[in-house]
Amino acid sequence: MSAVAQSTANAPETGSAPGEPLLVVRKLTKTFARSRSLMDLVKGEPRRRVHALTEVDLSVRRGETLGIVGESGCGKSTLARCLVRLHRVDSGSVTYDGLDVVALRGAALRRFNRRVQMVFQDPYGSLNPRMTVRATIAEALSVHRICPRREMPARIAALMDLVHLPLSAAGRRPHEFSGGQRQRIGIARALALEPDCLIADELVSALDVSVQAQMVNLLLELQERLHLTVLFIAHDLRLVRHLSHRVAVMYLGRVVELAETEALFAHPRHPYTRALLDAAPELDPSRRGSAEAAVRGELPSPVNPPPGCAFHPRCPVAIEYCRRVRPELVRLRDGRLAACHLAATEDGLVQSTEL
Ligand SMILES: Nc1ncnc2c1ncn2[C@@H]1O[C@H](COP(=O)(O)OP(=O)(O)O)[C@@H](O)[C@H]1O
Ligand SMILES: [Mg+2]
Repeated sequence: MSAVAQSTANAPETGSAPGEPLLVVRKLTKTFARSRSLMDLVKGEPRRRVHALTEVDLSVRRGETLGIVGESGCGKSTLARCLVRLHRVDSGSVTYDGLDVVALRGAALRRFNRRVQMVFQDPYGSLNPRMTVRATIAEALSVHRICPRREMPARIAALMDLVHLPLSAAGRRPHEFSGGQRQRIGIARALALEPDCLIADELVSALDVSVQAQMVNLLLELQERLHLTVLFIAHDLRLVRHLSHRVAVMYLGRVVELAETEALFAHPRHPYTRALLDAAPELDPSRRGSAEAAVRGELPSPVNPPPGCAFHPRCPVAIEYCRRVRPELVRLRDGRLAACHLAATEDGLVQSTEL
């Protein structure tokens, strides 16, 4: 029995059945100190903070792939880094399989860090250039005492097979591989630790389209074979569609819509989601030519987010109320979550006289 299975079996009160939330994020807030520019110093401006994440709410079910999308700068990487404890959060909670992640220390934190693995866009920096693939995976297996030394060759062969790298590649070093192959090595090393959750932050964004498709297929296959829970982060909606059961759309540090993937693509309810879909016209041939209807204007500074709905300065349908009152993330009639006054009104959740 793997260590993961053991820990779950030993703690039935914290276990969750398939489909139940494995990871629950509540009101997660993270700010960064922003260094003052010379102008700020001259003007005596106080030190300002970057609001990277503000009261983020989401949950990921066991065995699910949740896509997380949003323009660059929306807080996706900060969210990933907070989830694996690379950042200390300002406030809010992260619960993983019943564990309070923010409070984990010592051995419990190390166990958690094994269960939730990040895989990187270019693992080149994290792969030792002098170590062969075999040595890289063997090191992960031995540092974390995954298996006895005599079982390592068979484990390494199985991991290489999982990511479709030929066993003959085991004796080669990182520079002998293409970018896509290096990602497979990074994934094999992550899988060596028998995680139950993978967080892929812009994993395939920099790859050629054909290689992207192969990686997406590999992730789909791994997710099914190993019953992994996956957070798949991308700024490009096209990439998340085929992989994700549900998609969370982030805007300026908040989740603004969270829905089943097909519902989101067929009928986006938040104007920002609609703008993102319009920005990718090749998704739907009937929308071709509407690329200019892509998100208007620039992402506002997270140092000074707009009042009311943060999207209102760029929203084609914003009304006066949107400029003043921040919409909560509410459950719409079809079960999805959205933070838009107009969507809530359309569904009769708010009296339009309130607007
Ligand atoms: N370590 C940091 N220090 C200061 N600001 C940061 C840091 N990391 C991220 N930010 C800021 O937080 C915001 C969100 O960034 P990030 O999470 O990287 O967004 P995304 O991954 O969606 O592109 C950005 O404005 C970014 O400049
Ligand atoms: Mg990022």
